[in-house]
Amino acid sequence: MVKPDCVETNQVESIKALVNASGFLIITERMLRLEESLARNFYAEHSKREFFDDLVDFMTSGPVAAMVLQKRNAIAEWRELIGPTDPSKARVSHPQTLRAKWGIDTQRNCVHGSDSSLSAGREISLLFGGSRSTGKRFMR
Ligand code: CMP
Repeated sequence: MVKPDCVETNQVESIKALVNASGFLIITERMLRLEESLARNFYAEHSKREFFDDLVDFMTSGPVAAMVLQKRNAIAEWRELIGPTDPSKARVSHPQTLRAKWGIDTQRNCVHGSDSSLSAGREISLLFGGSRSTGKRFMR
């Protein structure tokens, strides 16, 4: 998912070019503005963290570009391409990554990546359809 900071600064096409150049297939994509309840649900695992409310405010502040990506070992490969959570650290240790190139700070870090196949199924269901089966369909 391309977050509101990078949608606002028009980076979606540049990001998609890198996604394609890195061997991912974009299976489906959608621009949407997250409702507050959806953002809270999407990031529920962070609900006890002090940054949670700010994160929800940020994620609902403008449109996001959600994509389902396909590649062998896609979860790990995507996390490799996006780089560490904190863009200032990414710029030092992983300068070729998306967060190093376009992230602003730990919250406005340009892109999200699912951390496991289980999370990917859940997150795809939340962003692309109402039912659990939507995510599972992409995870076969
Ligand atoms: P993401 O990969 O989408 O997963 C959780 C998000 O929470 C993360 O990217 C950041 O946008 C945000 N986040 C994580 N840690 C912090 C932090 N310490 N302060 C603010 N936001 C954070």
